[in-house]
Amino acid sequence: MNNSLWLQTAYKKKPFPPLDKDVTCDVCIIGGGLSGIANAYFLAKEGIDVILLEKDTLLSGATGNSTGKLTVQHDLVYADLIKQFGHDHAKLYYDVNRKAMDFGRSFAEGDELRSADSVLFSQSRYGTEQLKAEKQAYDVLGIPGQLGRSSELPLKTDATLTILNETQIHPVRFGQHLAELAVKAGARIFEQTDVQLMDLKKRLLYTANKHEIQFRNLILCTHYPIEALRGLQILKLSVNRSYIASAPANMPLQGQYISVDKPKRSVRTVHIDGKTHFLLSGEAHVAGMEKETHIHYERLSTELKDIYQLEPFNYRWSAQDPSTPDLIPYAGAISTSMPYVFISTGYRKWGLTNSIASARIISDQIVGRENKAIALYAPDRTGFGSFLLQALRNTGLVLKEFTGGHITRTDSPICTHMGCRTRWNEADQTWDCPCHGSRFRNDGSVLEGPATKPLDLS
Ligand code: FES
Repeated sequence: MNNSLWLQTAYKKKPFPPLDKDVTCDVCIIGGGLSGIANAYFLAKEGIDVILLEKDTLLSGATGNSTGKLTVQHDLVYADLIKQFGHDHAKLYYDVNRKAMDFGRSFAEGDELRSADSVLFSQSRYGTEQLKAEKQAYDVLGIPGQLGRSSELPLKTDATLTILNETQIHPVRFGQHLAELAVKAGARIFEQTDVQLMDLKKRLLYTANKHEIQFRNLILCTHYPIEALRGLQILKLSVNRSYIASAPANMPLQGQYISVDKPKRSVRTVHIDGKTHFLLSGEAHVAGMEKETHIHYERLSTELKDIYQLEPFNYRWSAQDPSTPDLIPYAGAISTSMPYVFISTGYRKWGLTNSIASARIISDQIVGRENKAIALYAPDRTGFGSFLLQALRNTGLVLKEFTGGHITRTDSPICTHMGCRTRWNEADQTWDCPCHGSRFRNDGSVLEGPATKPLDLS
């Protein structure tokens, strides 16, 4: 079962109440991860009347199951961005994410944040060539990276590419702190408040408890934006599930690491309440496409023991991350015909800086402030270039898994979003949908959207 170190060591705080009456607001945000909280904070600071609704508890989704790296080193990305979007846009992506990291540093305290070097490493000649190409991109963009050979990890590395003095966070404590600041600035936050229906034309939301929210602007910060995305982004997001395990460690690492070769591995340590934990991740697959998922935790456990000489893991968790076909998230108005509905998604596993950067973009749009990144992150941008292939692959996946919504009882129940067949995730004990990433608990209730209705398990 999912047992996230971050969620288990969250600050003990009084939960936010569920919504218990009809309300109106300037901006309603659905989704209480870092993305929704950052939007609430930025807008409340502008004096906007903002409400945030979370169907479960704050930060229990992607943020609470992340690796907690707040860095501009988003794996190998800048060489590809230059190729795809050109120098200026690649630089803009770097700038907005750097600004997001600096924002995090400006308010976090205690165990919420720590400085760490971000390091990419290769163990093959091909990987080293990739690192050299990425370093060239760093030079062109003015990113302060250094090529090297060795690292503090007990692994033979061929080359490293390091950005000194980046940041790692405790994503849940960090998010809890930001939520507190948002409330101080005037935001209203409600947990255990499940939005089940939307009437976007009338700008009305309806909760499972039969309350209405009248809004002027709506921001969807759910994992895979619910219903509103039918026929729009559905063909343009792929969803991956990745696995993380942690074990008690004696020494903190100076760096946070990602391998560029296969199998992909991500390594960091964290110090919480006087104890050090070692985190290993990288096992991943397309969401909902595997049944025997325990194998991924087993591989991580073996490596923790054999390579890092650590005891078997004490926490393990998995995260689900949507990606766009062209590396840049979607953040902004959903379409010109609905300029008051915004989405924020597709962070490609780099949601901690990207969610803050996206929140800046959306909040600037809402208050009418210029932001150079609006066009780059626009959800209706076109020109996927070489990444179109991935978009088509995603489409193919949807078509292949789509059953037409017929409730035919088989050993895999039909997803209530758009009728794809779910698969049982043995390790996490959930039904996962491969089409747009909905997840359901053992009893059929919704764990993650876009689905809003429970599975029929009868
Ligand atoms: Fe869309 Fe299942 S999540 S069909």
